[in-house]
Amino acid sequence: MIELAPSILSADFAHLAEQVARAQEGGAAVIHVDVMDGHFVPNLTLGAPVVKSLRKVTKLPLDCHLMIDNPDEFIPIFAEAGADWISIHQEATVHLNRTLQHIRDHGVRAGVVINPATPVETLAEVLDMVDYVLVMSVNPGFGGQRFLPNSLRKMRHLAEIRSQRGLNYRIEVDGGVALDTVAEVVRSGAEILVAGNAVFGKGDPKINAEQLLKAAAEATLLKV
Ligand code: DX5
Ligand code: ZN
Repeated sequence: MIELAPSILSADFAHLAEQVARAQEGGAAVIHVDVMDGHFVPNLTLGAPVVKSLRKVTKLPLDCHLMIDNPDEFIPIFAEAGADWISIHQEATVHLNRTLQHIRDHGVRAGVVINPATPVETLAEVLDMVDYVLVMSVNPGFGGQRFLPNSLRKMRHLAEIRSQRGLNYRIEVDGGVALDTVAEVVRSGAEILVAGNAVFGKGDPKINAEQLLKAAAEATLLKV
């Protein structure tokens, strides 16, 4: 099943509740929350108070993508604020096994993220303990960047490994997903599509979400 996870990074923060509601009306299934600390990535965004506020205005799962240097410290805080899913970067975590277990211990779905320069192979030992793998298709830090096509090969590889090893993780893609790239990402195996600029950048988030989901569905039909 293909699900759209609009990233609020490109939303109008003064009207966040309305923007999220609009995206949900357009078929969004998950809300993607980009947390940046100005260290792991060269940008600052938001923290747990925003998650706590969002929790009150939407029933959709909140997918917190932690682009921060010391995720262990913040996992309990985001879980407490209402995160349903928490993903951490392979590159930011020395003890990946422990940190993923830490997320699971809080009753939250655990995801692991790889940057464009990080190979899928680095995840071999943790793929059996994650609910989802997030493949970055831009270098994290900013919305509205150009899609990096080497991510497609990584998504296909993750789908192959999953069937070879009989695992269950879902494949999420993040960065540059828009009407011109969505067909390729879906055909490469992505099931959770993060889109910031394409949903909230301009126009009506409802219509934008509908169009992206329609393009994704058409691409899946073509695949068969
Ligand atoms: C990038 C973030 C993304 C970003 C995606 O650092 O992790 O979630 O908001 O934005 P678009 O869809 O605009 O590339
Ligand atoms: Zn993200």
